[in-house]
Amino acid sequence: MAPKTQKTAQLHLPDGSVHELPVLNGAFQKHALDIRSLYKATGFTAYDPGYTSTASCKSAITYIDGAKGDLYYRGYPVKKLADHNTFLEVAHLLWEGELPEAGGKNPLEEAVRSHSMVHEQLREFFKGFRRDAHPMAILMGTVGALSSFYHEDLNLHNEDDRDLAAIRILAKMPTLAAMAYRYNKGLPFVYPCNELSYVENFVYMMFDMPTQPYKADDVRVKALEKVMILHADHEQNASTSTVRMAASSHADPFGCIAAGVASLWGPAHGGANEAVLRMLAAIQTPENIPIFLEKAKDKADPFKLMGFGHRVYKNYDPRAHVLKEVCHTLLKHLGLAQDPLFKLALELEKVALNDPYFIEKKLYPNVDFYSGLVLQALGIPLNMFTVLFAVARTTGWLAHWKELFDDEDFKIGRPQQLYVGPEARGRDCEESEE
Ligand code: CMC
Repeated sequence: MAPKTQKTAQLHLPDGSVHELPVLNGAFQKHALDIRSLYKATGFTAYDPGYTSTASCKSAITYIDGAKGDLYYRGYPVKKLADHNTFLEVAHLLWEGELPEAGGKNPLEEAVRSHSMVHEQLREFFKGFRRDAHPMAILMGTVGALSSFYHEDLNLHNEDDRDLAAIRILAKMPTLAAMAYRYNKGLPFVYPCNELSYVENFVYMMFDMPTQPYKADDVRVKALEKVMILHADHEQNASTSTVRMAASSHADPFGCIAAGVASLWGPAHGGANEAVLRMLAAIQTPENIPIFLEKAKDKADPFKLMGFGHRVYKNYDPRAHVLKEVCHTLLKHLGLAQDPLFKLALELEKVALNDPYFIEKKLYPNVDFYSGLVLQALGIPLNMFTVLFAVARTTGWLAHWKELFDDEDFKIGRPQQLYVGPEARGRDCEESEE
């Protein structure tokens, strides 16, 4: 729904002039100043590094209430979806705006099944990577390489073509991710199996052995399904904004997703789940927690408490709540209820939440704090954590990619800057001044 303009705000400029800015009203009582006319009318730009106060687009997909610690996909609380829906039902919700009809077929199930294999030639690409290459590097390269198979047939102005590209990416991401893992391990690739659900198929392609067929266990699959649902979208985060920015030039969608993977890999974003486990391993025992908390508070030390803090949440991240629960259930199921790393994480959370620094700055556990522990309990190696995040987030990236083509305000992304370098100098300028 397009935001309604109700009021205007007045901007008093240094030269005494006043510029009127329309106020746009969004859902949940959120308002934005429409500054689109600002530069043209006044010559002023708005300075906002890291976009802390800038709404880069309108979107109807995901809403976060950072103060309350709520997250909704298309109006549904994420916990409800994680508890009651499958990953592909959530993908349908994110893409189409509604859950598939209760009791009916999810059209995405069939569509994904017919596109889950990758071209045989793509297998050859893998051989170009170092044997021990990080699976994120392989995923980034191979998803981008898919563009070479489909680019010529893709007309971005045709909705059917866009839908097919999105289905292809959604369907092939787990296949590529599993291949990246197996290449890194020196294991033979496994073809997707159409009898399995999206998430089961993913673990099957990772763990099936020629010598020992893999049999998925329902508790493990449901745990991974929840992890993936919780990671499916998170409005205009760094990787989603990267995908939107890349796509705004009408770039090839496989390349846009590769750009999203690149952005997600950073330790301040999706790479944090890997960093949390490395941090817990470094802390080793509860007695060492105070040393690490002091390091995190020390401005001269670049160390941060990984899995803590968030740009938007100034309360407990709702995804961390669900994942803490999943951790309890899964570890109990696996007979690992006394897992020392989980106990250490619980203690670290308790100490940090009672520390004045963390209280004052409103730093709470984020999604990454417990997700790594769940993934580790599922037997997923550390270097695959962010890959799993990427597979899940692809659904959100594609939802945003699809949405931007229907946006009447759609424009190529081209931020302004505040130039602070030297002013015109050099021979031509000196001559013209004379
Ligand atoms: N440990 C210690 N201090 C922290 C932490 C932390 N984890 N997070 C923020 N702070 C401090 C920060 O130093 C700053 O202090 P000051 O006001 O004195 O300068 C204040 O809290 C505000 O933080 P910020 O860095 O300005 O906040 P931001 O919105 O720019 O950064 C963040 C958010 C997530 C990058 C940051 O909290 C962080 O680096 N956390 C650790 C990494 C992490 O867990 N990342 C996963 C994010 S959630 C999943 C995802 O988005 O992919």
